[in-house]
Amino acid sequence: MAGSIVILTGAGISKESGIDTFRDAGGLWSQVRIEDVATPSAFVRNPQLVQAFYNMRRHALQAPAIQPNAAHVALARLEAEWKGKVILVTQNIDDLHQRAGSKNILAIHGELLKSRCFACGNVVEERGDLGAASTCIACAEIGTLRPHVVWFNEMPFFMDEAIAAIEACDIFVSIGTSGAVYPAAGLVEYANAAGARTIEINLEPSDVASAFAEKRYGKATDLVPAFVSELLGS
Ligand code: OAD
Repeated sequence: MAGSIVILTGAGISKESGIDTFRDAGGLWSQVRIEDVATPSAFVRNPQLVQAFYNMRRHALQAPAIQPNAAHVALARLEAEWKGKVILVTQNIDDLHQRAGSKNILAIHGELLKSRCFACGNVVEERGDLGAASTCIACAEIGTLRPHVVWFNEMPFFMDEAIAAIEACDIFVSIGTSGAVYPAAGLVEYANAAGARTIEINLEPSDVASAFAEKRYGKATDLVPAFVSELLGS
């Protein structure tokens, strides 16, 4: 019987699609400070700056040149062809897994192309800019929309579902993440406790590389399609 697979992805899988990672040389966190643009208190202090940062990223994500790459496509193929369950836990707020065709996705850090009203909690698709004049279509409040993303000091989404899936999985694969941000970086420990096969695929050893039994280092677009073909036996 085919077992169940949980895949954790991070910014490295989208790098070759043209989206900057956070902590590589020249990455996003070398261009702006987390405490200025990615915390609840930053939003209270300077909502214009925070909205501008996410407006810029939302706009960039929708540029025609930004497309899913071979690694995203391979993971969608795995979900379609593997006889057991495949669950994707992604830290990425881009929509490249969705565009590649993956369906079973837990977006634990939220989604850039959605907004959330902090007055009524309504979440809707959002492709344009957010600002002080944005109006919630559910409660009609003005200026209450924020990006539907998780900031530092906020709880990630779907953690109970992700942990339950990992506790029941046979294979846990981590792709393109530095292992610097918790709780995502600690998820491999649930896989180890469950006796799952654990594999890290990344450009370089992550901060939690020692927790993985198998490690493969190189570009996601080379390694992920090869790994998926191996799993599918082709
Ligand atoms: P990081 O920028 O911390 O790490 C990206 C990882 O991808 C690094 O370890 C790189 O070596 C690797 N990498 C780069 N290019 C690659 C390629 N072509 N193929 C394979 N690997 C490659 O990004 P994340 O680990 O995703 O959270 O960061 C985790 C969280 O920190 C993000 O979700 C975000 C950030 O702050 C929030 O904003 C809440």
